[in-house]
Amino acid sequence: MAPEVYIENLSEHVGKEVKIYGWVYNKRSSGKIRFILVRDGTGILQCVMAKGETPDEVFDKYDLLTQETSLIVSGIVNEDKRAPGGYELHIKNIKIIHIAQDYPITPKEHGIDFLMDHRHLWLRSRRPHAILRIRHRLVKAIRDFFDSKGFVLIDAPILTPAACEGTTTLFETDYFDLGKAYLSQSGQLYVEAAAMAFGKVYCFGPTFRAEKSKTRRHLTEFWMVEPEVAFYELEDIMNLAEEFVEYIVGRVLETSKKEFEILERNTEPLEKIKRPFPRISYNEAVEILKNNGVNFQWGNDFGNTDETIISQQFEKPVLVHHYPAAVKAFYMKRDPNDETYALAFDMLAPEGYGEIIGGSQREDDYDTLLKRIKEHNLPVEAFDWYLDLRKYGSVPHSGFGLGVERTLAWICGLDHVRETIPFPRMIYRIKP
Ligand code: 4AD
Ligand code: MG
Repeated sequence: MAPEVYIENLSEHVGKEVKIYGWVYNKRSSGKIRFILVRDGTGILQCVMAKGETPDEVFDKYDLLTQETSLIVSGIVNEDKRAPGGYELHIKNIKIIHIAQDYPITPKEHGIDFLMDHRHLWLRSRRPHAILRIRHRLVKAIRDFFDSKGFVLIDAPILTPAACEGTTTLFETDYFDLGKAYLSQSGQLYVEAAAMAFGKVYCFGPTFRAEKSKTRRHLTEFWMVEPEVAFYELEDIMNLAEEFVEYIVGRVLETSKKEFEILERNTEPLEKIKRPFPRISYNEAVEILKNNGVNFQWGNDFGNTDETIISQQFEKPVLVHHYPAAVKAFYMKRDPNDETYALAFDMLAPEGYGEIIGGSQREDDYDTLLKRIKEHNLPVEAFDWYLDLRKYGSVPHSGFGLGVERTLAWICGLDHVRETIPFPRMIYRIKP
């Protein structure tokens, strides 16, 4: 019983009889006319029937059609400007497949916790549906960008022997006779190895952080795309990050007009995302905070509200570079002109969204890297292979990681990342 026609393709079937396989989204009647809104995953279609015109046995099925009842509805496609979506189906027949009983998500307002508890059903509603379609297109744009530039996709492992981004947010698991394994916080160390083999590479997959923070920006499982390029220095990788973000925003704007309308997202701020983006040093960012009355201690990393204030100063994403090395990861190369600073950058999204990218040039000197690993109290034996990369033809290299959920929250104008991923994982949520 495979569907042949989907609602999104109805323009090719005007005047013809089609069968739509789907679910009842809503229904209403006015006098002798009855409307059934049917959704099939690609769109919502208004289906109509009239007493007297439609056979009685079809017309009377209306009463059985509860919300989310599955059905096959057949009829003639008409173009109708007033109908949602621009087309209407004049019903000839209705075949009920399964009657839904007391679907819990009704057209009335529900609280976010209720909706999140019913995420497995909530996906059917307009808003999550629109957001996840945009996510799909964003992911495609991300892949197209790197693929079209000759980057090779290298899948990084998820079970790993050690930390990449600091030991405090590691998820730990027993690993047979070999002790502990950890869920990957980042594929970076592995794409560094791959960059020495392929030149330009990226990984794209889920990453895990045991973040205890209950903020609107933190998930415990999120998706990250991480390009890594041999012979790139800080400036080169910042250029790549700018070009990348301009491209993915442009592509999503092109492909997702309908979804932005559903979300009531004003896309004007997104139209402005064109290179060049502003770049400021950490010290300049600290000045901005001070000028905005923030009591900020030099040397700290920026918190959520700091990032919000900094990013609100600009209409485009801003690249903040040269962070104090002390607050950054062990693998970052220090500025040879002043070792206080790391050759690192973050990209902060506008409209107050804050960090969407973290990146850096990597330490490429064997002795220095070994020293850093020890300074960070990391187990040297877990990093022997990573140190090898600095033994055999070491070269300058750089990369970054972009978090898909934070980027999508910004693009869709959402106030929480929990809506950007099909089944969010947070400190207080592992279900559904
Ligand atoms: O800045 P982060 O920690 O950088 C890295 O992991 C580097 N190893 C990447 C690299 O250079 N290859 O994380 C990168 C991005 C952040 O900018 C943010 O967008 C996202 O990952 N991110 C999170 N997103 C949701 N929930 C969390 N808990 C996140 N932590 C980081
Ligand atoms: Mg970061």
